Amino acid sequence: MKVIETVAEMKEARADMGVGVGLVPTMGGLHEGHLSLVRRARSADGHVVVSLFVNPSQFAPNEDFDAYPRDLGRDLRLLDAEGVGVVFAPAVEEMYPPGFDEWVEVRGPLTDRLEGAFRPQFFCGVTTVVARLLRIVRPQRAYFGEKDAQQLRVVRRMAEEQRLPVEIVGLPTLREPDGLAMSSRNSYLTPEERQAALVLPRALELGRTMVECERVRDAGKLKEALADCIRREPLARIDYVAVTDYETLEELTAIDRPALLLLAVRTGATRLIDNTPLTPHRSP
Ligand code: PAJ
Repeated sequence: MKVIETVAEMKEARADMGVGVGLVPTMGGLHEGHLSLVRRARSADGHVVVSLFVNPSQFAPNEDFDAYPRDLGRDLRLLDAEGVGVVFAPAVEEMYPPGFDEWVEVRGPLTDRLEGAFRPQFFCGVTTVVARLLRIVRPQRAYFGEKDAQQLRVVRRMAEEQRLPVEIVGLPTLREPDGLAMSSRNSYLTPEERQAALVLPRALELGRTMVECERVRDAGKLKEALADCIRREPLARIDYVAVTDYETLEELTAIDRPALLLLAVRTGATRLIDNTPLTPHRSP
């Protein structure tokens, strides 16, 4: 496995690969969720590039950039065991050289709402770094998790707007055996918070049951029931409970089409997000 730290070397290595390149962008702190993206890329693409880069521009000053889990040795061992060919692990100055001014932004409701409303600079940071990675690595496919549903849709829109010739592939969320979505940030949780965090998968399950079995179609009623469920957990604080169109993430009042239920909840100092599709037409 080749570990590359500079943009120049990455471009050089890319030139030798030809077609059939898959990119899996990550911030490291790898878990099975990340590895599921890597495995899909391995099965679909001749060459797999995984990037490890904790991207400063997507963190607000009060967020966890410094505390973010970094263990390059562990990440490299995991990727080597998956048979990855190239790891791109650049320093901040490589991705943001002095005078860097190529900010890439998707504007409008897709980025203003949900995560965008709570983390105003987040999506600009994500689209800037992902656009830069796509331009350096030039993959035919890039893989992202539905765990970050809004990010996936924003990245897709960015690739279209920037006319980048890449297929953005979205893959399902991997969960711990008790239902908690895998996340690098789960390592911040105390045992009590880890237990409290189970309110997220519990609320998602309740939402699915209400829509798919009890045939609830009133989004307001659904959100109220889920907020009640989350509030019963004393360590949990709601940032949002949202019911949206599956593709556009526009807020729904009636659940009359494929929809997404999205949650952002803080347990202690740790902010967790999760989501599930809602399929209103499935019979009970
Ligand atoms: P990171 O949080 O490291 O996630 C990297 C990729 O793994 C993302 O596409 C994310 O959706 C996916 N992922 C995370 N948890 C997952 C899970 N439980 N199951 C399946 N996939 C999961 O997201 C980022 O990094 C950054 O914003 C990045 C896109 C790399 C830009 O800096």
